[in-house]
Formats: sequence, structure tokens, C-alpha cells
Amino acid sequence: MSKQMDRRQLLKSGLVGLGAMASFPYLSMGAFSGVEPELDNKNRIIRSPLVREILPGGRIDPISFKARLNANENPYGPPESAQKAVVSSVMRSNRYAWQELFDLVNKVAVKEGLPPNHIMMAAGSSVLLEKVAIISFMKGGNIVSADPTYMSLVNVAKSVGATWKAIPCKADWSHDLPAMEAAIDKDTRLVYICNPNNPTGAITAGDELYDFCSRVSEQVPVFIDEAYIELAEGSNTKSMVSLLTKKKNVIIARTFSKVMGLAGMRVGYIAALPEFLGKIDAITRGGMDIAYTSVFAASASLDDQSFQQMTKEKNNAVKKYLCSQLDKMGYAYVPSVTNFVLFPIAMAGKTFLEKMSAKGIGIRAFEIKGQPYCRVSMGTMEEIQLFVTALKSIS
Ligand SMILES: Cc1ncc(COP(=O)(O)O)c(C=O)c1O
Repeated sequence: MSKQMDRRQLLKSGLVGLGAMASFPYLSMGAFSGVEPELDNKNRIIRSPLVREILPGGRIDPISFKARLNANENPYGPPESAQKAVVSSVMRSNRYAWQELFDLVNKVAVKEGLPPNHIMMAAGSSVLLEKVAIISFMKGGNIVSADPTYMSLVNVAKSVGATWKAIPCKADWSHDLPAMEAAIDKDTRLVYICNPNNPTGAITAGDELYDFCSRVSEQVPVFIDEAYIELAEGSNTKSMVSLLTKKKNVIIARTFSKVMGLAGMRVGYIAALPEFLGKIDAITRGGMDIAYTSVFAASASLDDQSFQQMTKEKNNAVKKYLCSQLDKMGYAYVPSVTNFVLFPIAMAGKTFLEKMSAKGIGIRAFEIKGQPYCRVSMGTMEEIQLFVTALKSIS
């Protein structure tokens, strides 16, 4: 019998506690009890014991959706200012964007209150999440993150050999920071925090997170993915960027794909200490992947406060409408500070996904501790009304 099977039987018989608990003490924690992690032949967690994304059976064509509510995109973009910037720059796109990219980096640095050598840009923040995973885990080690969370960085870390220490979110879906801190050991190379978190839309309190990052980053780098932070305005959060002025070893990721409406233009950045960015620069070339026109679109979007404000207001109005409808239908959604809402559904995720798809509605489905969930992005009011009508007709 394989080691993996032995462990499975141990878990099933409730006798985990010896081998597994020695390697993963957090497996004994409340949210994990009774769930079976999938392990590889080195006893590393392959898949979350708590969360599984449910994928559609066949190929889904998002272009054909009447309401594309599956990727947390901004339905109001790209801003007109960015469209004009693309048109006026396209004639020069036979050139590399050398100076133009420096100008954009400088603009981002001013916005963040940091020297430009603290900023690295790329064609979307995903690229930087992946690069950080590669440079951090090339020589092994473990990564500590919440579960559920956004899996890009964690998945690449695992692919290059990292062990994943998945720490269940608290009952209110915020990060369990004390448990995450307790999970750090001598082999931990990075802590990943997504705040606000995806796929939950939940927030972890800004002050608590600030203290955590400030303390923990003395021991190990802390990566904070702030893809949705602008949309969380008015909630109990704050950006962790200012920790860099105190020379803390934190890495903050931001994207132009959400509030700035440029998902398809592919622009994002990280702010980090120059020494940390130097490790990425040593093996890759930062910024060279951003299209010439995207540099100009990003610069225009950054300046376009009125577009960002309009996005936030409309997003909140659509979310308020959706939540009022979910309340009426008796769905217990996770309170969201983002442009998506997660709620438990009363049918298998795959069936739900297929029924919604058949009605032209794109959503995401997850299973969390065996309970199916729908994650729906805030489209326009018309799109979310289509979603609500479809939901009523299938439930
Ligand atoms: C939490 C989080 N981080 C990063 C990304 C990637 O964004 P980008 O478009 O900048 O690659 C996403 C995209 O949905 C996200 O949800």
C-alpha cells in the first residue's frame, strides 16, 4: 500500500495526528477536520483540501455570453482617455517602449510615494506573481497562504517544487493571521496574502494586516496581492505599500485590469525593495513584455480619476442590487468589498455552471468544504439583472 493510501486511511479513521500533524500541524485545525488533503509522494499538499474550482465539461466561449460575469472584469472600460492614448500611440509602436516605460514607472512611483527603483512593471500582475513564485521557490521551501485564495502564485510555487501550507480562512472569511504566522517555519520562503481576497470578496482588517506584515516580514517576505483594493474604498482596509518606506520586506501587487478597466491591455506592477526586485531582474527582463500602446493606455487610465470613480460607484450600486435580490431569494452570500460576490448554491456546481451557460451567463463555480458556491462578477446593471432572472429560473 502506498504512503499516500496509508495517509488517506489514517485520515479516514481519524488517526491523523502522528505523521501528518508532524509535517502539517494546521491539519488538525477546526476547518480542516474531516477533510482529506490530496498529497504527492513527498507528502506535499497537491490540491486544497477545502476548495475546488468546478470547471465546465466542454469548451465555453465567453464571447457568446450575454453577460460575462466570470472574470471580475470592469464592464465600463476601457476608459475613453485610454482609447485615445492607444490610437495616438499606435503609429510609434514599431519602437520599443524604453523611455515611455520609464515615464510610466515614474508616474506609478509618484502615486505610491516611493522611489522608481521600488517599482517593477509587467504585462499584467499575473506575470509578476509567477516571476516571484519562480525566484522564491527555485530551491524549494514552503509557501504559506490562506485557503481559499487566488491560486496563481501558489500554483506556480508548487509547480517549481514548493510545499503549500494552506491555512483555512476564519468563519468571517478573513485571513487567520495568527494561524498563518504560526505556520511559518525555517523553510518558509514567502507568505502570500490576497486582500481583498478572491474568490471570497472578503476583507482582512487593514490595521491587523499591517501589524502582521510589519512583524512577519522581518522573518520572511510577505506578498500582498491588492488587485481589488481600490474597489474596497470605505471598508476597513488599507494598502501595505507604506511598509516599504520602513524598509520592510513586503511585495505589493497592483493591476490595471480591474478599477482601471484595462484587463485586455495587460498591465500590472509590483512595489518591493530594490534588493528583492534585483533577484527578479537577475534572471528575467522587467517591463519588456508590455505592448507600446498599453504603456500609454495605462498612463491615461492612471490619470483618469473620473473613470475610476464612476466604476466604483456603479460597481457598488450593482452589488447593492444583487445582494438585495439574493436576500429576497434567501442566499447567504459572503459580504463583498470587491466586484464579485460568492454565495452557496443548492445544486452541484457543474450543473449550475452548465445551466447558467445555457442561458448565456458566464459565472465561476467552486466547492468549498463540499458545499457548491457561485462566484458572480459585477457586470453592468443590465447584465446583473439577466443573471438574477436566470438564477430565479433555475433554482
Ligand atoms: C487577486 C488577483 N490577482 C491578480 C490577478 C491577475 O490580474 P492581471 O490581469 O493583472 O494579470 C487577478 C485577476 O483576476 C486577481 O483576481
